[in-house]
Amino acid sequence: MMKWTNQLASQLNWSGDISNKEVKQQVADKVAAKVKDGDVIGIGSGSTSFLALQAIAERVKEEGIDVKGIPTSKEAELNCSVLGLSTTTLIDSKPDWGFDGADEVDGAHRLIKGRGGAMLREKLVMASAAKTFILVDQSKIVDRLGEKFAVPVEVDARAIHLVESHLHTFAGVTDVAMRMAEKKDGPVLTEGGHVILDVTFETIGPEAETELKGIPGVVETGLFAGYPVEILSV
Ligand code: A5P
Repeated sequence: MMKWTNQLASQLNWSGDISNKEVKQQVADKVAAKVKDGDVIGIGSGSTSFLALQAIAERVKEEGIDVKGIPTSKEAELNCSVLGLSTTTLIDSKPDWGFDGADEVDGAHRLIKGRGGAMLREKLVMASAAKTFILVDQSKIVDRLGEKFAVPVEVDARAIHLVESHLHTFAGVTDVAMRMAEKKDGPVLTEGGHVILDVTFETIGPEAETELKGIPGVVETGLFAGYPVEILSV
């Protein structure tokens, strides 16, 4: 098989500095130690997952084990390619397990994700795996979900006014803002080509994910509640 030899095909990059890198590296190494020959693994997005993917790719190379990844974003897909980790899709395989990061985790293991705009694919992979390790440093663990981050809601661009109107009738919603892009005019577009409304909540009730998904025009949300996750931290 012919391989690309240009710079982008061989250069691994993370966009910017990785905050709390040493701690994230320890969590990344912990998850890499769990990989077994024959595993099909959901590959998460974000900087902690980026470090975990590198650690896994290193083991695969050193030990010659057979591992396939199912990437949750373009970012993860490109990194798998540069690192030489074989990939497959949810159409072809069911992941044995997966790993991903989060922006917030509460005591009930509910998550806020979606900084990368890849929540649709992240949720599909997480819902398909028997278990997903959530790789976090202590700064992500919160008493009240929504304490530091707004909930990103992925919306079909034609429905922004309809969705915003619904959101303002929700109990606990204090602000709704469209996420604007940097280095591109206009809004951030998700991997699915939709816009993101960042929704600030005072309190996030147990039914919030279902209620948000019930609004016509909402494609997905960065609120993950009730998925089979294990929190992996140091
Ligand atoms: C990616 O789309 C996000 O959901 C990330 O999983 C999350 O932002 C993780 O952040 P870190 O970069 O701190 O790992």
